[in-house]
Amino acid sequence: MIISSPMDYREAAHRRLPGFLFDYIDGGAGTEGTMNNNVRSLQDVFLRQRVLASVGVPSLECEILGSRWGLPIALGPVGATGMYARRGEVQAARAAAEKKIPYTLSTVSVCSIEEVAKGAGGEQWSQLYVIKDRGYMRNSLERAWNAGMRTLVFTVDMPIPGSRYRDRHSGMSGPWATMRQYLQALSHPSWALDVGLMGRPLSFGNIEAYTGHRMSMDDYMGFLGANFDPSIGWSDLQWIRDEWKGQLILKGLLDVEDAREAVRFGADGIIVSNHGGRQLDGAISTAMALPAIADAVGDELTILSDSGIRSGLDVVRMLALGAKGVLLGRAYIYALAAGGQAAVSNLLELFAADMVVAMTMSGVKSPSEISRANLDLIEREFSGE
Ligand code: FNR
Repeated sequence: MIISSPMDYREAAHRRLPGFLFDYIDGGAGTEGTMNNNVRSLQDVFLRQRVLASVGVPSLECEILGSRWGLPIALGPVGATGMYARRGEVQAARAAAEKKIPYTLSTVSVCSIEEVAKGAGGEQWSQLYVIKDRGYMRNSLERAWNAGMRTLVFTVDMPIPGSRYRDRHSGMSGPWATMRQYLQALSHPSWALDVGLMGRPLSFGNIEAYTGHRMSMDDYMGFLGANFDPSIGWSDLQWIRDEWKGQLILKGLLDVEDAREAVRFGADGIIVSNHGGRQLDGAISTAMALPAIADAVGDELTILSDSGIRSGLDVVRMLALGAKGVLLGRAYIYALAAGGQAAVSNLLELFAADMVVAMTMSGVKSPSEISRANLDLIEREFSGE
């Protein structure tokens, strides 16, 4: 299949993956209204076209959270990545290292912190969920630090897993899930051989390292359902800020009041995110939430954002709305599923090429120059004109 745009990888992933895995990646909560709106509202962000601005060739390098990045993009945390490609977390982290951008390893990854740290190189971030078992959280912080990870992405928008109806339809969860998954794997032999067989062990490395038990896909869904903790609040988490000596980024904020709490908490950064529309169906898109949050706390911590980013143009839009950098989710996972590390590298090149066009046409030379001034129409709405 010819790949000419980032979203061609979605179709390629669709062909390669058993249905339950493709739908797990591709789906969102409830009616998928928020998930779809993330993409749509980015398309509704208009950029001012400037001409004869003598920009030359823009550079995409930038400084974020004290590090030099090749592009204002990080690869975000995505659970079960090693189910979509053979030892998928290591492959994705290698592609990120190649492009000099950070890779974020999910709590619920197939490859463990140690396997990724040893196998990939580059800058890796560790993502942690708020989990009932505090022993697990401490163990995870310690292992991440010992493996050389210095940035913690602490995801706070999953006190309870969202209602993902597609998962029951597809066989990811629900009746006869394991049998349905086996049958789907059989009808996707190249995935079954490459990942199902050669990609073993398909356990959840970080959880296994703590509990000592192998985890199947069924156990994974059970773990997601049983281990999240809706009872905790900001003060219960202060110990993490006190114990973690590296940078701490809170992921999953959409509200200005919560962003102010994050500043009081002592976060170094926040990720404005609705988890790609996988949690609260009905929540606003990140493109809609971002400008007010940037106005409120943009001078006090580093703002990153994700959800719905499908092209380099979308990255420029997010920066214009107030983010310093973005995280990719589905966009790079489709590529990884379709063609492993090489496809993720190619995807990042497609993003970079797209950013160069958007920045040249906007009259800016580097990501740090992109601002609200590059917005058209919407900027007038925000400033009340
Ligand atoms: C996620 N996301 C996620 N976030 C997180 O903090 N920890 C995790 O383990 C996961 N797992 C996960 C699995 C899958 C299959 C997806 C698609 C997403 C959310 C992810 O980091 C990011 O916020 C969204 O993917 C961004 O939305 P888009 O760009 O994918 O639409």
